[in-house]
Amino acid sequence: MNKLKTGIFILFEGGECCGKSTIQKRCFDYFSTKYDTVKMREPGSANVSEGIRKLLLDPEMKMSDITELMLYESARAQFVEESLKPALEQCKLVLCDRSYYSTVAYQGFGRGIDLKTIESLNNIATQGIKPDISFIFDVPYEEAIRRMKNAWKSPDRIERLGKEFHEKVREGYLYIAKNYPEAILINAFRDIETIIKEVMGKTEEYILSKS
Ligand code: TMP
Repeated sequence: MNKLKTGIFILFEGGECCGKSTIQKRCFDYFSTKYDTVKMREPGSANVSEGIRKLLLDPEMKMSDITELMLYESARAQFVEESLKPALEQCKLVLCDRSYYSTVAYQGFGRGIDLKTIESLNNIATQGIKPDISFIFDVPYEEAIRRMKNAWKSPDRIERLGKEFHEKVREGYLYIAKNYPEAILINAFRDIETIIKEVMGKTEEYILSKS
């Protein structure tokens, strides 16, 4: 097992059914044989945050856009304090499925909440911790819907939102890919093995540059 000199935070982001969770898992299977690696997700990866996740994704839970925003940020604050920060301090490789770019895309672009408000809340919740690389997986909405229909589970509260909402989320992710220097846009409408190879290659290159 190789020892990292610092913690490394790799983020997997994108709209519904973009394949990020599968890619994150495959990266975990590979990198955990080489480095001390942990897999995390938002909302989640801490007891309180997993509890909040259930509320947020339950289709029966009606809530205002601001309540939704605050719940995502609360889940994040606990996740950062309890899970992310200690893992990075212990020089682990953290592979995380979603974090604060989801709030920019979903609550900012999707719900229309002011981006400055979201940025300040994100900064409080993350204590200023930033990802080393953020992969933004992009698929057209029609493809996401096709994949969603083939999925075994019934859609959650956010997946149920319509085309207009999800198109705005996609627009948000394209904005993020353009405006944040560590963000890398990945065309996720391709053969999954090709995407995995590309993501693993870029991650490995980054890790070696830090060793
Ligand atoms: P997922 O982990 O299965 O992708 O589900 C999480 C859902 O929550 C997904 O629809 C995106 C949404 N989400 C937000 O709207 N804002 C956020 O800040 C985060 C982390 C997720």
